[in-house]
Amino acid sequence: MLVASESEMVQLGAHLAALLRPGDAVLLEGPLGAGKTVLARSVIRALAGQGEAVPSPTFTLVQTYEVPGAVLWHFDLYRLDDPEEIWELGWEEALAGGIALVEWPQRLGRYRPASALAIRIEPAPGGARRVSAEGGRLAGLWP
Ligand SMILES: Nc1ncnc2c1ncn2[C@@H]1O[C@H](COP(=O)(O)OP(=O)(O)OP(=O)(O)O)[C@@H](O)[C@H]1O
Ligand SMILES: [Mg+2]
Repeated sequence: MLVASESEMVQLGAHLAALLRPGDAVLLEGPLGAGKTVLARSVIRALAGQGEAVPSPTFTLVQTYEVPGAVLWHFDLYRLDDPEEIWELGWEEALAGGIALVEWPQRLGRYRPASALAIRIEPAPGGARRVSAEGGRLAGLWP
């Protein structure tokens, strides 16, 4: 699907938020500046409240949010040097009943969850983004 603008990406995040359940992991793939954090922020605000401050976890690698029925974990693994370091970030707890949004999931190596929902965002001409999604329930993302 073609997402024409940042505001459309925010709308997509609200749709995605409505599909998520505790135990879900969403992998957000795409190059630097693709819009992974824009999408994650929109999901987090849809669930935690629109006033929520959502910094990019570029340096902290993870931020957590209380949302109804779960803790939401927002990971940015760009600076993860070794997949083993994921265990120090609460990965086990995040997967056990949390909602995990993961930027740069390639860094997980063999710990990439097989059952995750995967979303790929690619730049397209004119500030648009091409977004594709894999994983059963994500079919509900497309109108
Ligand atoms: N259609 C669009 N969807 C999303 N973001 C857009 C769009 N058009 C322009 N932008 C801009 O692109 C940038 C996306 O930045 P964002 O931090 O979300 O990228 P990222 O994929 O998380 O990058 P990084 O890998 O560095 O974490 C923002 O500055 C946003 O304003
Ligand atoms: Mg980001």
